[in-house]
Amino acid sequence: MEQELQQLEKRAKETLATLQDNSQLEDFRIEYLGRKGKFSTIMRNLGNVAKEDRPRVGQLANTIKQEIESLFEEKKLNLDQTGAKGETGDIDLTLPGRRPALGRLHPVTQIMNEVCQVFENMGFAIAEGPDVETDHYNFAALNIPEHHPARDMHDTFYISESILLRTHTSNMQARIMEKQDPPLRVIAPGKVYRCDSDITHTPMFHQVEGFLVDKKVSFADLKGVLTVFTQKVFEEDLALRFRPSFFPFTEPSAEVDIACVICKGEGCRVCKYTGWLEILGCGMIDPEVFKMVGYDPEEYSGFAFGLGVERIAMLKYGIDDIRLYYENDLRFLSQF
Ligand code: PHE
Repeated sequence: MEQELQQLEKRAKETLATLQDNSQLEDFRIEYLGRKGKFSTIMRNLGNVAKEDRPRVGQLANTIKQEIESLFEEKKLNLDQTGAKGETGDIDLTLPGRRPALGRLHPVTQIMNEVCQVFENMGFAIAEGPDVETDHYNFAALNIPEHHPARDMHDTFYISESILLRTHTSNMQARIMEKQDPPLRVIAPGKVYRCDSDITHTPMFHQVEGFLVDKKVSFADLKGVLTVFTQKVFEEDLALRFRPSFFPFTEPSAEVDIACVICKGEGCRVCKYTGWLEILGCGMIDPEVFKMVGYDPEEYSGFAFGLGVERIAMLKYGIDDIRLYYENDLRFLSQF
């Protein structure tokens, strides 16, 4: 039996060396390594070996079989690489190539670009500012002095006593107004941060801030701009609701809701069973803000708004959990 094994090993190695293509390789596999192949047959006959020799012979058979198997794999790899696949396995040059998986823009980026485009078409310029902001631009310059209760609503991530992650893109209002005189038409897209997390909040999200300052700007102008905006972005006449609200940097202020397109106003977990989804806050810029940047509130008026980009994308695509955006699951992301 041991002799038989050694002969088999020798023959297998010699044959392997002569193989030229995949079909010969397959024949070899069946003849030697297959279920009814030469090695299996020997293994099956192990019962005929004397009991005391059996473990030794069995081990030898296994070792040889494993060696042949690894030589076989090596040969296969070799043939694959040299491309010599013989008649049945020739490379078919007429087959289409494999397409590399293409990346694409994240749905939030897509909506952000779309929103910016709509405002650019209305003559707004784009401005970008820092995510890491001073207390001054995020709060004080917006008529939110230290110890003002409005600071509590922002769930701010502080870096030091006076440095923080901006809680809204409104930080850009004073930054721009300080540097430029009216008339102004600006949008400021970017990331904002709040310590908050549930199905409609993530600690980082995106806003687009917009503000317009000129002589004789009224709330009607604000309504007009926002109505055009929702019509363009949602490509339909969605119901809009202006709800009186409060922001320290606008007066009067409103929050704008849009009819919930997920439940069509019926009430669902996304709209918290109200039928409406808040998409932005807005109002007429407070005279105090103008005074701080050196504008004359008697001469100029203006409006500002800040909208949540994730919310808009949720509405547009019917996504019911905001956290999906940031789980990086390609099955989700590649749908947009
Ligand atoms: N900054 C406000 C917020 O994040 C939104 C806002 C912007 C309100 C501009 C009024 C004017 O909630």
